[in-house]
Amino acid sequence: MKKLIIANWKCNPEKIIEGMKILNSLKGLVDGKNKVVICPPSVFLGQFLADFGQDFTFGVQNCYFEQKGAYTGEISPKMIQSIGAKYVIIGHSERRSIFKENDDEINKKLSLILNETNLIPVLCIGENREEREAEKTYQVIARQLMNCLDNIPKEKLNKIVIAYEPVWAIGTGIYATEDKIIDARNSIVKILCDIYDKSIENKINIIYGGSVNKENIDMVINGCKMDGVLVGGASLKPKDFILICNI
Ligand code: PGA
Repeated sequence: MKKLIIANWKCNPEKIIEGMKILNSLKGLVDGKNKVVICPPSVFLGQFLADFGQDFTFGVQNCYFEQKGAYTGEISPKMIQSIGAKYVIIGHSERRSIFKENDDEINKKLSLILNETNLIPVLCIGENREEREAEKTYQVIARQLMNCLDNIPKEKLNKIVIAYEPVWAIGTGIYATEDKIIDARNSIVKILCDIYDKSIENKINIIYGGSVNKENIDMVINGCKMDGVLVGGASLKPKDFILICNI
């Protein structure tokens, strides 16, 4: 089974030419064993698709919950689809904490994406440090899943990628241990079976994100049997990212 390796470049690099350099360094060295998706800043997408559309699948890091209108600065799922991107990350913890996005907005984005486009949404969930220390991980991800998946029918569940990203592991170099990731995976499956029913058990795509690097990728993919990874920092380092992609 191909694993899903998603690069989240966040607000990097500063210049499009630097992004081109990264893609050029990856080109030809990513062996195609796994599915690699690059999510650069949206403003670079048109050029990247023109120059590298044959080499990589592209996605975006966020979208709005309306298709068009007077929403200065926003981009919509249909626009993303029309330019040729295939994936859209929603509910990333940086969107939630810095831009104050809530589950209700994320739910609206998810509904719009699933109902009106063929884009694959990557729904990010995960607890922060205080919630982990207070042993509230299960409640937090249950609440996020329940709210974000409100009114999403069972038949659409296999189109969604769920990214478990503990907030304390993002960009910190401190990644979740094997047992914590397996625990979270089992919790997500149980919560979704409770929301829907047992029939969805093997139809859910669950990936892990949070300080994934060339050293821990084997543990995440082979140890925890995750369906893939969401990679931030390491996705901007071509040598490291190639090793991750070729796992
Ligand atoms: P990181 O970021 O790999 O730098 O921890 C992951 C993410 O934010 O998706």
